[in-house]
Amino acid sequence: MFVSWFILALCGVCSATVTLKDPADYTDLHADASDNSFKAIYDITPVMYQAWAIVGPYMFAGENHTSLDHETFTVNKNDTSVIVASGGAETNISFSKIIKYGYSSNLFQASFFGSNAAINIANTSTLYIDHSNITTHNGAANVYAFGTGTTAYVSNSDLYSSGPTAHGLYAAGNATIWGYNVRHYSGGNRCSSFAGDSPGGYVHVYDSIAHTKGIGSAIFYALGQAYGTDIVGWAENSPILFMDGNQLAVFNNVDLTAGLLAGTVMFSSAVRQSNASLSFANSRLTTTGKDMPGLWFGNVIASASLYATEISTVSGILVVANYSQVTQEFDYFAGYPDNNDLAPAIVAVSVAESTLNGDLVAYNSSSVTWNLSNHSSWTGSAYSGYGAAEFAVSLDKTSAWTLTHDTKLQNFTNEDSSMMNVKSGGFTLFYNASSVANKWLKGAVHKLSDGGFVKPM
Ligand SMILES: *[C@@H]1O[C@H](CO)[C@@H](O)[C@H](O)[C@H]1NC(C)=O
Ligand SMILES: *[C@@H]1O[C@H](CO)[C@@H](O)[C@H](O)[C@H]1NC(C)=O
Ligand SMILES: *[C@@H]1O[C@H](CO)[C@@H](O)[C@H](O)[C@H]1NC(C)=O
Ligand SMILES: *[C@@H]1O[C@H](CO)[C@@H](O)[C@H](O)[C@H]1NC(C)=O
Ligand SMILES: *[C@@H]1O[C@H](CO)[C@@H](O)[C@H](O)[C@H]1NC(C)=O
Ligand SMILES: *[C@@H]1O[C@H](CO)[C@@H](O)[C@H](O)[C@H]1NC(C)=O
Ligand SMILES: *[C@@H]1O[C@H](CO)[C@@H](O)[C@H](O)[C@H]1NC(C)=O
Ligand SMILES: *[C@@H]1O[C@H](CO)[C@@H](O)[C@H](O)[C@H]1NC(C)=O
Ligand SMILES: *[C@@H]1O[C@H](CO)[C@@H](O)[C@H](O)[C@H]1NC(C)=O
Ligand SMILES: *[C@@H]1O[C@H](CO)[C@@H](O)[C@H](O)[C@H]1NC(C)=O
Ligand SMILES: *[C@@H]1O[C@H](CO)[C@@H](O)[C@H](O)[C@H]1NC(C)=O
Ligand SMILES: *[C@@H]1O[C@H](CO)[C@@H](O)[C@H](O)[C@H]1NC(C)=O
Repeated sequence: MFVSWFILALCGVCSATVTLKDPADYTDLHADASDNSFKAIYDITPVMYQAWAIVGPYMFAGENHTSLDHETFTVNKNDTSVIVASGGAETNISFSKIIKYGYSSNLFQASFFGSNAAINIANTSTLYIDHSNITTHNGAANVYAFGTGTTAYVSNSDLYSSGPTAHGLYAAGNATIWGYNVRHYSGGNRCSSFAGDSPGGYVHVYDSIAHTKGIGSAIFYALGQAYGTDIVGWAENSPILFMDGNQLAVFNNVDLTAGLLAGTVMFSSAVRQSNASLSFANSRLTTTGKDMPGLWFGNVIASASLYATEISTVSGILVVANYSQVTQEFDYFAGYPDNNDLAPAIVAVSVAESTLNGDLVAYNSSSVTWNLSNHSSWTGSAYSGYGAAEFAVSLDKTSAWTLTHDTKLQNFTNEDSSMMNVKSGGFTLFYNASSVANKWLKGAVHKLSDGGFVKPM
C-alpha cells in the first residue's frame, strides 16, 4: 500500500501531509509480486513487421460506431487483447472494467504492434474511454494505439498493470493518445506510464498521477512527442523520462521524482542523433539517489529549456553530458563496448526565471552550453568527469552566478560587462583566451567585486 507516497518522496521533514492515491493503493501488490519479478526478454531477433493478427473477444471494425457502458470486458489468454478496434472504428466505453490476463510472447510484437494490450486500437480508429478501470496482469499494456490517424481519449480512469512491458498509455506508428485525469501504476520492468514507440507516438497527458515501480519504467518514454501538464509522478527505479533520439518532451506544471540513473535520460540507442528537445516550465524535478544528476544526456545532440523550474538532487549535479547511452537493461550508463557508434553529447540548456544549485559535468569530449537569462541564478561549477570537456556559460544582465569551485570555460559571455553578477566564492573562473566568444575579455585578468578573478587559462 502506498499512502502519501508523494510526500515521502519529496519532503525530508514535513509539517503537513498531502495524500495522493494511485491504483497501487487499492490493489493487493503482494499477489502480483511474482508477476512483477518477470523480466522483459528483449534479447530476441527483432521482427519489425506485425507477425500475427491482433485479436480479442471484443472486436470492432470498419464503420462500426459503438458505445458501451457499465460493462466488464475480460480475457485470459496469451498474445491477445480484450478490446480491438481497427479500420476506422469509433469505440466509446464508459464506466466499465477491462481486465486482462495472459502473457506476451514477443517484446517486439508487444512494443510495435500492441499484440497483448488490453485495449488495442489501430488503423484510423478512435477510442473514447472514461470512468473506467483498466487492469492488466502478466505483462500487457493498458491502452495501445497504432497507426496514423488513430486517436485514443482516456479520461477519469485508473490504469493498473503487473508484469513486464506493460505501459499505461502507449502510442506507436504515429498514433495519438490524450489522457485526462488518469491515475496510473505499474509494478513491472519497462512499464512506462505514458509512452511512444517506433516510429513515434504522440502522447498528451493532463491532470494525472503516475507511479511506477520497475527498472526501465519511466513516467514518460518519448519516442515521438510527449506532453505532460499538471502531473505528479514518481518513478521509483527509473528516470522520469527516457528519450531515444530526435524527439520532443514538453512538461508544464509537473512535479516528478526519479529514483534511478537520473531525473531525465536522453540518448540515442544507435548512431548519435540531433535535435532532441526537452522543456520544463513551472515544474519541479527531484532525484533521490546519491549519484543521480537532474538532466542526463549521452550520445545525443540535445537542447533543454527550464522556465521557473526547480531541480532538486542529492548528488549536487544538475547536468551530465557523456560519451554514453543506456542499454535495453535501463539500469546503467553504458560505454563503447555496448555501442561502437557512441559519440559525445552536445547539450545546450537555457534557463529562465529559475534558481538552480549544482554542477555541470561533461565526459570524454562532451559539451554543455548553459545560458542563464531572465532573473535566473545559479550556484555551482562545471568540471570534467574524465577526458576533454567543454563548457560555455552565458549570463544576461538580470542573472547571476556564484562559483562553488574553480571552473574552466571554453566560452564565457556576460551581458553585464562589470561582472557584478558573478560571485567567485573564493574560486577562479578560467577562460580560453583563444575562443572568439571570449574576445571581449581581451585575454586579461578581471577582478570580481568579491576579490575573485576571471583569468585566461
Ligand atoms: C459492431 O461490433 C459489435 C461488437 O463486435 C457487434 O456486436 C456488432 O454487430 C457490430 N455492428 C456492426 C453494424 O457491424
Ligand atoms: C463517442 O464519444 C464522442 C465524444 O464524446 C462523441 O462525439 C461520439 O459521438 C461518440 N460516439 C458514439 C458511437 O457514441
Ligand atoms: C492494421 O492494418 C494492418 C495492415 O492492413 C493489418 O496488418 C493489421 O492487422 C491492422 N491492425 C489491426 C489491429 O487490425
Ligand atoms: C502463456 O505464456 C506463459 C508464459 O510464457 C506460458 O507459461 C504458458 O504456457 C502460455 N500459455 C499458452 C496457452 O500458450
Ligand atoms: C508514420 O508516418 C510516416 C511518415 O508520414 C509514414 O511513412 C508511416 O507509414 C506511418 N506509419 C504508420 C504505421 O502509420
Ligand atoms: C477502479 O477500481 C477501484 C477499486 O475498486 C476504485 O477504487 C476506483 O475508484 C475505480 N476507478 C474508476 C475510475 O472507476
Ligand atoms: C526537430 O524537432 C522538432 C520538434 O520535435 C520537429 O518539429 C522538427 O521536425 C525536428 N527537426 C528535424 C530536422 O528533425
Ligand atoms: C559516463 O559514461 C561511461 C561510459 O562511457 C560510464 O561508464 C559512466 O558510468 C558514465 N557516467 C555518468 C555519470 O554518466
Ligand atoms: C572516450 O571516447 C573515445 C572515442 O573518442 C572512446 O574510444 C573511449 O572508449 C571513450 N572512453 C570511455 C571511458 O568512454
Ligand atoms: C563557443 O563559442 C564558439 C564561437 O561562438 C561556438 O562555435 C562554440 O559552439 C561555443 N561552444 C560551446 C560549448 O557552446
Ligand atoms: C540566451 O538565451 C536568451 C533567451 O533565450 C537569448 O536571447 C540569448 O541569445 C542566449 N544567449 C546565448 C549566448 O546563447
Ligand atoms: C525573458 O524576458 C524577456 C524580456 O522581458 C521576455 O520578452 C522573454 O519572453 C522572457 N523569456 C523567457 C524565456 O522568460
